[in-house]
Amino acid sequence: MADKNENSLKAIDQIRKEFEERIQTAGSTEELDAVHRDFLSKKGKISRLFGLIGKVSPEERPRVGARLNELRQHAQSLLDEKRSSFDKQAKPVEEFDPTLPGREFPFGAIHPMMQVMDEIKTIFAGMGFRIEEGPEIETDYHNFEALNIPEFHPSRAMQDTFYLPDKMVLRTHTSPVQIRTMESQKPPVRMIAPGRCFRRDTPDASHSPTFYQVEGLCVDKNVTFADLKGVVTAFAQKLFGEDIKVRFRPSFFPFTEPSAEYDFSCFCQGKGCAVCKGTGWLEISGAGMVDPAVFGFVGYDPKLYSGYAFGMGIERIAMLKYKINDIRIFYENDIRFLEQFKMVR
Ligand code: DAH
Repeated sequence: MADKNENSLKAIDQIRKEFEERIQTAGSTEELDAVHRDFLSKKGKISRLFGLIGKVSPEERPRVGARLNELRQHAQSLLDEKRSSFDKQAKPVEEFDPTLPGREFPFGAIHPMMQVMDEIKTIFAGMGFRIEEGPEIETDYHNFEALNIPEFHPSRAMQDTFYLPDKMVLRTHTSPVQIRTMESQKPPVRMIAPGRCFRRDTPDASHSPTFYQVEGLCVDKNVTFADLKGVVTAFAQKLFGEDIKVRFRPSFFPFTEPSAEYDFSCFCQGKGCAVCKGTGWLEISGAGMVDPAVFGFVGYDPKLYSGYAFGMGIERIAMLKYKINDIRIFYENDIRFLEQFKMVR
């Protein structure tokens, strides 16, 4: 029996040594899992050693039992220790390095067209004009008829139009917003209508099938051409500086009588440069006194009221302001172009 006791203790020490070697050489958590399985699982070597308790003499049992419990605890704590040392290696603590440069956030920029648009809106709002909107898909009636452009009149040919089914069009100008505003409001009216327009134009340096306009309209008693000149001149000077001059040339539009085209004096101050093609003047757009026929369509009394209207192309204004010579660049989404318009804070 003494022999049996002795052998049991030896077997325990033997397994302990074996376990310690395995733990020592284990190089991965997978290997640690294997060590656990081989020694501490139900059928593992250490667990099986507990069978010895029944085989030793009763007086030896406490000693063998204590030795086995101690081995099991020892094995478990070695295993835990090693496992946590692996965990630490696997997840190195991220240390904060205050010397690293900060992360850059790519800030967007407001598109140059929209910057100009905002500026125009602010200037007219300051002169008491409300901002009105209308649909981009417009009725033939609002885009043409009510602006005194009948279906077979040659003036329709001035605007290459995208026609849609059911007498609808992609609006070719923002002038239809005049009609919509007068239909829904009684005079006095003082409004601008900024917005997108469409024409069947082949893109080139000065044409884009999509473009922006701002329409202006003022209707009240005793409104005259002098008011139109005063407002357009005040606008030009606010946008480009006090030195800018405005001139009006006679022209024709079906919805104004008399009609004019207006120009701003060029930045070269009349010396003549490539932008104004040597003329000293930059063409902006059309304007005039609202034709009484238009008042007829919206039910305003032309004997009581008069009004002026004007239009302008926003790309043209933005091109002058930023000295851009090709309209297409506004619509190409080239980040190198757009980044130049970041506002400095
Ligand atoms: N709608 C015209 C166009 O796109 C521009 C224009 C001319 C607007 C005269 C007006 C105006 O309000 O009075 O060509």
